[in-house]
Amino acid sequence: MKKNIAVILGDGIGPEVTQQSIKVLDAIAAQFNHEFHYKYVLMGADAIDKTGSPLPDETLEVCLASDAILFGAIGHPKYDNDPTAKVRPEQGLLKLRKSLQLFANIRPVNTYPALHHLSPLKSKNIEDVDFVIYRELTSGIYFGKKEINAEGTQASDDCVYTSAEIERIAHLAFKHAQKRKKKLMLVDKANVLETSRLWRKVVQNIAKEYNDVAVEYMFVDNAAMQIILNPKQFDVVLTENMFGDIISDEASVISGSLGLLPSASVGTGVALFEPIHGSYPQAAGKDIANPVGSILSAAMMLDHFGLTKEAQLVRDAVEWTLQHGFVTKDIDPINSYSTTTIGDLVKDFTENKIPTELNKDNIRLSKSTII
Ligand code: IPM
Ligand code: MG
Repeated sequence: MKKNIAVILGDGIGPEVTQQSIKVLDAIAAQFNHEFHYKYVLMGADAIDKTGSPLPDETLEVCLASDAILFGAIGHPKYDNDPTAKVRPEQGLLKLRKSLQLFANIRPVNTYPALHHLSPLKSKNIEDVDFVIYRELTSGIYFGKKEINAEGTQASDDCVYTSAEIERIAHLAFKHAQKRKKKLMLVDKANVLETSRLWRKVVQNIAKEYNDVAVEYMFVDNAAMQIILNPKQFDVVLTENMFGDIISDEASVISGSLGLLPSASVGTGVALFEPIHGSYPQAAGKDIANPVGSILSAAMMLDHFGLTKEAQLVRDAVEWTLQHGFVTKDIDPINSYSTTTIGDLVKDFTENKIPTELNKDNIRLSKSTII
């Protein structure tokens, strides 16, 4: 199989985690006789520095002409701390999502037994948790009219949804539920927000087409609590843009770290794959960031290409590293390994190069005896 992949390394730790994914993808391509061609394009703070725009036209053109997009992270503290900045890195990502109509952001949440003891949550509550969040990605408060008055004393962000926008993601979520435990939870704030009441109405209507799926509704404040209290109750969670942004970061605590969670953003055309974490500027360039979220996003991309065997091999490799305690600092501050080492180990596993006798000290010193 031949695929053209647009790569946006982005800001902060984006480049170093994405490089691990490319390494793994190259190993998969060599082993299974695929050809992955990468085109590197700019977005975010990096793009503002180099071109003045957070999403240069060339980036959009290359993405549109690609089979998939692999993206690292976006954001820089110099903009976060400057509320008056006219151009912001995040505008690049939002414009890309909108231009490509990536209306559904899919964020799977699961747990790894090897990491349970490191979680702030009780093991018995997180064992076997396995759910997926469908977050609407191209509408709602993120994209409504934004205003600030002349005096700079009053600001507003409109939250607008149309039934068509709700329907298209709801169908995807219901279809996915049919292939899973056949449960769908709509998370909203229908006791207060008109947009949430529209979500309920539309979802209630669509539910009639999916008789085999049990639908439940939960207010977002309660959902925020339930995700920690009893995460096993969830199967497919469907929600609007901002609620999805918030509860998916929260849900990452169940897995063990924000750095572990991947995502796929899909729409009508080319799809984008990115870890859910941000640019983590404090860690940039230090080779300490967790590459697993990015590597698992690359696995989601392989699935998207229909390469399920290859995707599973990458997931098995990640699972193997976690099981053997090969984790970055965010997961285990005492016994940690570098970003590059984790990437190498995942790659080696996919190539069947892991010896039975592992010398952890050598691996930590990057004097890996593996290769
Ligand atoms: C995410 C991020 C983005 C979002 C930011 C960087 C704009 O938090 O993908 O979850 O809010 O959607
Ligand atoms: Mg977020």
